[in-house]
Amino acid sequence: MSKNRVQIFDTTLRDGEQVPGCKLNTDQKLVIAKQLDLLGVDVIEAGFPISSPGDFNSVVEISKLVKNATVCGLTRANKKDIDAAAAALKYAKIPRIHTGIGTSESHIKFKFNSTPEKIIERAKDAVKYAKSFVEDIEFYAEDAGRTDNEFLAKVCEEVIKSGATVLNIPDTTGYCLPEEYGAKIKYLKENVKGIDNVILSCHCHNDLGLATANSIAGVQNGARQIECTINGIGERAGNTALEEVVMILKQHPYLNLDTNINTPMLYETSQMVQHHMGINVQPNKAVIGENAFAHSSGIHQDGVIKNRETYEIMDPADVGVTESSIVLTARSGRAALAYRAKNLGYELTKIELDTVYPEFLNYADDKKEIEDVDIHQIIKKCNIFKSKIEA
Ligand code: KIV
Ligand code: ZN
Repeated sequence: MSKNRVQIFDTTLRDGEQVPGCKLNTDQKLVIAKQLDLLGVDVIEAGFPISSPGDFNSVVEISKLVKNATVCGLTRANKKDIDAAAAALKYAKIPRIHTGIGTSESHIKFKFNSTPEKIIERAKDAVKYAKSFVEDIEFYAEDAGRTDNEFLAKVCEEVIKSGATVLNIPDTTGYCLPEEYGAKIKYLKENVKGIDNVILSCHCHNDLGLATANSIAGVQNGARQIECTINGIGERAGNTALEEVVMILKQHPYLNLDTNINTPMLYETSQMVQHHMGINVQPNKAVIGENAFAHSSGIHQDGVIKNRETYEIMDPADVGVTESSIVLTARSGRAALAYRAKNLGYELTKIELDTVYPEFLNYADDKKEIEDVDIHQIIKKCNIFKSKIEA
C-alpha cells in the first residue's frame, strides 16, 4: 500500500453503537456492514464479542458477510475476551483482534489499581496471546490522549516487540488540542523503535468538538489510519465523523493523503445509519446535513446561481447529494426567485419579476420557507402568465 494511503477504520458498529438507546439488531448490523464494505472502508470494527451473545453473533455473521474489508473485534487485555473475539472472527476473510488497556495515570491508578510496569506486562501478554490466533493485532492504549508521551512510547515499543501490527492512540476523553495530538503522534514516530513497521492509528472523541481536527493533525504527523463512525455517532459527544475526514483529505489534495472511500456513497450511507439508529443528524452537520448544500441568503444565492464555487467548496455530487438547493425565504433576492421560478417553467422578464417579487416577500414574511406550490400561487395571483396568454 502507498505511503500516502490513510486507512479508514469504521467503528460505527462498535464505538458508534455504544450510544444510549441506539442498539442495532444483527440484521440491521449486517445491512450497515454490507454498505460499509461497498463504501470502501478498510476495516470494519464489528463489535465487542465478549460483551453479549448478541454482539458475539453479530461479529460472526458480519465476518461471514464482508468481502473486502478487514473485520475486527474488540477485547480488553485478558484471555477470556481474546478467546471470544478469536472465535467470533473465525469466518472472517481478513480478521483483526483489537486489544488494549488504559495507559494514563488515572486509568492505571483508579481503574486498575496497578502500576505502570504491571500495565506493560498485561499489554504484552494480551498482544502475544491474540497473536496466537490471528496475524493482524491492533493494540489500543486507552486514554493515550492524557498519557505521558515517554511512558506511551515505552508501551508502544513493547507491544510492537510482542507482535502488534497497528497502534491505536485514542484520545478517549476528547481532551487534546490538535497541535498536542499531532505532536504526540510525531513523538511516537520519532522515539519508538520499530514504529515504521506498524501503522499508527488516530481514534479521537468529540467532547470538545475537536475529533476531526485531531484526526487530521494525527495523519499530518505520520499516522496512517483514522478510526471513525458514520455521522460521528458515538459515546457522549461522539467519535470522529468518517464523512468529514474523508472529504477533508479529498478537498485538500496538497496534503498528499488519500483514502479508498467511494465518496458519492456517503450521503446514502449516512441516511441509512440515521434510519437504523433512529438518530437524525443536525441540519447543519458538515458534509451530509440537510443544509450542507442549501443556500438561503440573497447574496449567497446570487453567487451560487452565477457559479456554484462562489459559496461551495465541494461538489454535492461528490458526496452523493444530487444538487445544491436554493431555499427561498424572506432573505432571498430576485435572482433566487427567478431561478426557482424558471425551474418550474416560468421564464420571468425583469418587469414581471418586479411585480412578483413584492408579493413573494409578503408570502415569505408569513411563511418560514417558500415551497414550489407557493411559487405557483404567487405567480397566479400576480396574473402574469394569464395576461401573456390573453395578449
Ligand atoms: O475511546 C477509546 O479509547 C476506545 C478504545 C476501546 C479503542 O474506544
Ligand atoms: Zn472510543
